[in-house]
Amino acid sequence: MTGPFTVAIDGPAAAGKGTVGRAVAARFGFRHLDTGLLYRAVGARVLAGAEPVAAARDLTPEDLTVEGLRTQAVAQAASEVAVIPEVRAALAEFQRWFARMDGGAVLDGRDIGTVIVPDAEVKLFVTASAEVRADRRFLELSPGDPALTRAAVLADVEARDARDIGRAESPLIAAADATIIDTSCLSIEDAVEAATARVAEKLARR
Ligand code: CDP
Ligand code: CDP
Repeated sequence: MTGPFTVAIDGPAAAGKGTVGRAVAARFGFRHLDTGLLYRAVGARVLAGAEPVAAARDLTPEDLTVEGLRTQAVAQAASEVAVIPEVRAALAEFQRWFARMDGGAVLDGRDIGTVIVPDAEVKLFVTASAEVRADRRFLELSPGDPALTRAAVLADVEARDARDIGRAESPLIAAADATIIDTSCLSIEDAVEAATARVAEKLARR
């Protein structure tokens, strides 16, 4: 495909953004970026003693592959650094470059369709109830962390949602022109199908 074609996927923690994003990218041969990983990598560096803005500015590809980025502690640290405007600014340029290179790109996060790529060809807002999202995240994390409780996961998800929605800079909100996909009662296959149909429709009109 010549020219850029961006699929922006936003939504709250553990809604299925990455699952849908990876499947859409595979289906259409698009590249995929989990932008939450950038914030998690900055959060992990801060937990190791770094200053947040410096950590965001010096982030390297190796920082994205360190162990432990999927833990609850790192998720919380990520959402704490994510309120800092200079941290967001330091990560924005790479995300825009990734999104607008030639060919298709899928980016999932919180502010992709609203701030990073407001002219994205497709905008999806993937969401689900906090209870369903906490259950899904608990199922993912509990095998590796037997001490983890479902209540702790729900508390993490709710605290991050509140911080992400309430912050002044690039808050989590559905873009006015986003297609809402509520996955509370959808299988992964049905959620992927809803997203794929929207992308196919837009590609056909290109
Ligand atoms: O990227 P995000 O944090 O929004 O969520 P995810 O990592 O894609 O999905 C969180 C978990 O929910 C994964 O274990 C998915 O397999 C699961 N999931 C699901 O059970 N049903 C869906 N419709 C979507 C995701
Ligand atoms: O996988 P999950 O949805 O639980 O979280 P994530 O996408 O890895 O994001 C971790 C944290 O990074 C979020 O709670 C947000 O505070 C922040 N984030 C953000 O502010 N903007 C983005 N585009 C992506 C993540």
